Amino acid sequence: MIALQELSSKEISQIRYACAYLFSPELAKNNQFIQNLRLESLRSAFRKKAKQYHPDLNNSDAPEMLTRRQERFIKINDSYNVVKNYLSQEEYAQAGTLKKDYPKIIAVGGAKGGIGKSMFVSNLGILLSSLGKSTTLIDLDLGGANLHLYLGETSIRKTINDFLNKKARSLSDITIQSRYGPLFIGGDGSELGSGNINYLRKLKLLKTIKEIDTEYIIMDLGGDTSYNTLDFFLAADCQIVITTCEPAAYLEAYNFVKVSLYRKLNRIFSSESQWNKQKDTELAEIIKEATHTGSGNEITSIHELIKIIKDSKPKYLNLIHQALRSFNPYLIVNMVNAESNYKDVVTRIQDVSKKMLSIEVRYLSNFSFEYEVKNATNQLRPVLAKYPRGNFAKQMNRIIPKLWPNGM
Ligand SMILES: Nc1ncnc2c1ncn2[C@@H]1O[C@H](COP(=O)(O)OP(=O)(O)OP(=O)(O)O)[C@@H](O)[C@H]1O
Ligand SMILES: [Mg+2]
Repeated sequence: MIALQELSSKEISQIRYACAYLFSPELAKNNQFIQNLRLESLRSAFRKKAKQYHPDLNNSDAPEMLTRRQERFIKINDSYNVVKNYLSQEEYAQAGTLKKDYPKIIAVGGAKGGIGKSMFVSNLGILLSSLGKSTTLIDLDLGGANLHLYLGETSIRKTINDFLNKKARSLSDITIQSRYGPLFIGGDGSELGSGNINYLRKLKLLKTIKEIDTEYIIMDLGGDTSYNTLDFFLAADCQIVITTCEPAAYLEAYNFVKVSLYRKLNRIFSSESQWNKQKDTELAEIIKEATHTGSGNEITSIHELIKIIKDSKPKYLNLIHQALRSFNPYLIVNMVNAESNYKDVVTRIQDVSKKMLSIEVRYLSNFSFEYEVKNATNQLRPVLAKYPRGNFAKQMNRIIPKLWPNGM
């Protein structure tokens, strides 16, 4: 978030003045309110005021009233643009890249194999489609692609490899309509070396993914912590980490969150970041050393890094805080059974992330171990298609209001 104090006093008073027009003079004085403002609430305030003051909507007014109404409407419109501009800069800072409303990208990761990532991705896609949202699923588990199996396809002719190898010119050439609702772009893990793509290809792929004409994109990631997987994960607007209650899985899940954050911090000045032009090589080096295992200067907690930056590069503290605040992945605990204490797993991951990484991990849901999931998988059918009223479907439905508390 761009803190108000980072702006000049003239800019701050412009924003306050505009907020007074759109909301109320009291709210305009409230820093917290302005900092927490979101584009959706701004738009809704604008619509309300516009309805009230739009000159075309009240033809019955006396001419003098009409002029006043027109003047007021112009002020409201200008105010809307001022605050919108401020909020767009804020979104820009949060992501490090410019964002638009759609597509919303969801990434599903977790550094262990076999914990239910692909199963979850396919069913979330089916659920979003059934809610009328255009959804595209992408298999980005480049070395072990199998998302298509969870969508009832045993083999696919066109895959993401064709795009990466330039055999397909666009993603739409390799997009397949699944029989269960969502579109999908499959992968082919059997091709030797398909997991290795170079940096520029990856950037091109990510850029092209963000241009897909769809409301939701869900990326299924590999169970590893390669730079590719981490960069796909970080490119999403909404990050979901899956674990099970097994120590090997939850330790990997925490490690995945940790290395993702380290990667994010190391990419603050990357070529696709808005901070690229203000690159401070010394700070980049400090972050690199501090987050590099075996460098001898590796930090034990992010708190320590913050202290180092406070002493040596205080003007970047805010930037680091922004990066930390804008990274709060969701957590799902899968395959929970009567013996497993999933709450303990959630608390452990949340506590250690807070203490060591200074970030909030948000608990999203747990899914019980269900034979219906196994059965559906064995029959190459999505669980939601085979058991639309089963336990798994009920648990899936509950996550929608948690992911989008203000509506989709
Ligand atoms: N809640 C559940 N209950 C029962 N079985 C489950 C559940 N979730 C996943 N499974 C089963 O676990 C197996 C592995 O799932 P999946 O392929 O989705 O894992 P993954 O994390 O994508 O693995 P990889 O990283 O290897 O791609 C599948 O057979 C799936 O049906
Ligand atoms: Mg998978």
